[in-house]
Amino acid sequence: MAGAFEPILTAGIGRMALERIEVYESQGGYEALRKAVRQMTPQAVQKEVTDSNLRGRGGAGFPTGRKWSFLPDDGRPRYLVCNADESEPGTFKDRLLLERNPHLVIEGIMLAGYAIGAARAFVYLRGEFRQAYEVLQRALAEARRRSYVGDRVLGSDFSLEIVVHRGAGAYICGEETGLLSSLQGGRGEPRLKPPFPATAGLYGQPTVVNNVETLACVPSIVSRGARWFASIGSPKSPGPKIFSVSGRVRRPGNYELPLGTPLREILFEHAGGLEPGRRIKAVQPGGGSSAILTEAHLDVAMDFDSVAQAGSMLGSAGVIVLDDRDCIVEAAQVLAEFYAHESCGQCTPCREGLHWAARVLRRIVAGGGRPEDIEVLQSLPSRIAGRTICPLADAGVGFLSSSLKYFVDEYRAHVTLGRCVREAYVA
Ligand code: NAI
Ligand code: SF4
Repeated sequence: MAGAFEPILTAGIGRMALERIEVYESQGGYEALRKAVRQMTPQAVQKEVTDSNLRGRGGAGFPTGRKWSFLPDDGRPRYLVCNADESEPGTFKDRLLLERNPHLVIEGIMLAGYAIGAARAFVYLRGEFRQAYEVLQRALAEARRRSYVGDRVLGSDFSLEIVVHRGAGAYICGEETGLLSSLQGGRGEPRLKPPFPATAGLYGQPTVVNNVETLACVPSIVSRGARWFASIGSPKSPGPKIFSVSGRVRRPGNYELPLGTPLREILFEHAGGLEPGRRIKAVQPGGGSSAILTEAHLDVAMDFDSVAQAGSMLGSAGVIVLDDRDCIVEAAQVLAEFYAHESCGQCTPCREGLHWAARVLRRIVAGGGRPEDIEVLQSLPSRIAGRTICPLADAGVGFLSSSLKYFVDEYRAHVTLGRCVREAYVA
């Protein structure tokens, strides 16, 4: 399957300077926008995206066309926000697109803005992405000069300005309601949904929040058609996907492949496999928030539904690989510290529970674990997950609960011996 696949989102990256507008145009760039504003109604663009079955690439996999269709038709201004606050551990695909193919993202934003009738579009950019910020600003200035962005795009009646807003380095601002609050100048604190941003988003107005990679898929859908896009990869999760692979592989990096490519193929054919003599211990298929899979799951098709059936989630498709040298308890501690640190503190189970998890794990790693610590850790996930405002708390216990399922003996040995045994105990 992957042999016949030609990259769509990353085509040309590394070979040509796509961040320069004339290079992007020479590859057919902005032709989809030209086609849309000259030959298609906004409804036709929306229908094409709906028919393509494009699903959100930020993590949730929600159908993009359906999300756009939720906007009420009540005359209020509508906003489009490109979520570029990529912060999920092990995920670095949006950064690649923003830094190396910014016009594709801009074209996607303009097409989405055209389809939903946006009054203004915003890019909420992760604060640490300084290079992406500079590249994006230069690309936007070029796109404005060539009438792809701003007033009367390409001489049509369609006008849309794009504003880039830099975050300040908080993971929680990637959650859409936290993001919108931060964008309005408030604290980056999520709120309960519903109401969803579609009805009460930025400044209380109907708002669509789409991930960078999701928007980058739109130009090719408009130019090549929904049927073509829907024919790539898994029928229920079609299209290209950038898998960010990190950890114990020989060639870590971003790999654009069809959704549904087997995990084994991603790791061994594209990412170079493991060091000689090493064995896979655990894989997080969807970034630091996802439950681990083991060697037994290597044939899972990497699409939203198949990974969920295997007991984890595709999420942002940040694939993190641990091998037999890695200590599962230490890895759990590193992640628990991250989520505890990033908790916004509104919900007690998240604020207190994640700190307790980190504290207990720290004690075990330091050699001072107590026998009852295992039961404490086992009881934590069900007391935290599903009891909070946003999914950060669930994310914070994803690795912990799944690693206890597969490697509880390693946790126990750690407590008994006061040190790591560095052995896999896969159930
Ligand atoms: P969600 O399932 O609550 O929502 C998905 C999207 O669909 C949202 O935009 C939501 O507004 C919309 N939606 C859902 N039902 C709707 C309805 N009835 N009416 C209108 N709109 C509706 O998921 P959420 O919380 O937005 O995202 C969670 C995912 O984010 C996780 O799976 C995780 O993998 C991922 N994530 C990604 C990060 C990254 O850096 N890319 C960071 C952290 C988490
Ligand atoms: Fe904040 Fe955690 Fe509650 Fe999310 S779950 S709102 S991060 S305290």
